[in-house]
Amino acid sequence: MLDVRGLKKVYEGSGRRVEAVRDLTFTVEAGELVCLVGPSGCGKTTLLKCMGGLLAPTAGDVLLEGRRVTGPPPGMAFVFQEYGRSLFPWMRVGENVELPLKQKNLSRSRRRELVADALRSVGLADAAGAYPWQLSGGMQQRVAIARALAYEPRVLLMDEPFAAVDAQTRADLEDLVRGLWRERGITILFVTHDIDEAVYLGERVVVLSASPTVVQEQLKVDLPDERDQLHTRVAPRFAELRTHVYEQIQAAKRGTPVVTVTKSDTPPLH
Ligand SMILES: Nc1ncnc2c1ncn2[C@@H]1O[C@H](COP(=O)(O)OP(=O)(O)OP(=O)(O)O)[C@@H](O)[C@H]1O
Ligand SMILES: [Mg+2]
Repeated sequence: MLDVRGLKKVYEGSGRRVEAVRDLTFTVEAGELVCLVGPSGCGKTTLLKCMGGLLAPTAGDVLLEGRRVTGPPPGMAFVFQEYGRSLFPWMRVGENVELPLKQKNLSRSRRRELVADALRSVGLADAAGAYPWQLSGGMQQRVAIARALAYEPRVLLMDEPFAAVDAQTRADLEDLVRGLWRERGITILFVTHDIDEAVYLGERVVVLSASPTVVQEQLKVDLPDERDQLHTRVAPRFAELRTHVYEQIQAAKRGTPVVTVTKSDTPPLH
């Protein structure tokens, strides 16, 4: 579904040159939920913006179903890291969610239906008439998710969407994302710097190194599809996987020679 090949991004300007991403290659299959984890500042947002066609890469390609991404592709939705700034304060929640649908050739009644359905699925059926600033942080983030869902994307890119909400809301939102993914069969790329979150959510975890960024490792999360906050997080296999990812990130920070490994089997046990 998504192919990232030799992606490099260098920011230049004001006499400053930042190599945000050096050389990234990985693939996301159709219907997969892949988590991308890496230290702060390693270029996760940069990568997602390149994948969403919001930034042009310096070198390399992003392919969506074999076609090169050169601008925001139809069928792709984005949930930004700074959700507070991604909602329009002068528009009511319902209008915010409806906005991207106006690009689609849909009847007014169909748009209304999609908005109501999306708000219902994030548990905000009653909030359509409120303004974003009247809602809590977690609720605002659910509005941003509803907006992405109403668009009926085939691919959803999420950039640390839960970084600024409290732990309890975060757990609920994680389960919401997994539930929606299982119901709707969307392809999801979920960026986080939280190792536990990556292992809990993903079917696969792509570990990025610290800057200059390359793929440090990819590992399959061989936990059962049915996951829940109580049991999954205390399962011995969960602990093994999180320890493994943690060690990989530590190795990347120490600058241990990084070998790009594409693993589809399970990591060694410790
Ligand atoms: N518009 C820009 N112009 C110049 N440099 C930038 C720009 N955006 C990001 N950078 C730099 O690129 C590097 C990667 O930034 P990016 O935001 O992609 O990291 P990140 O992994 O998303 O970080 P975080 O986990 O804190 O969100 C950083 O060194 C940052 O300073
Ligand atoms: Mg970021």
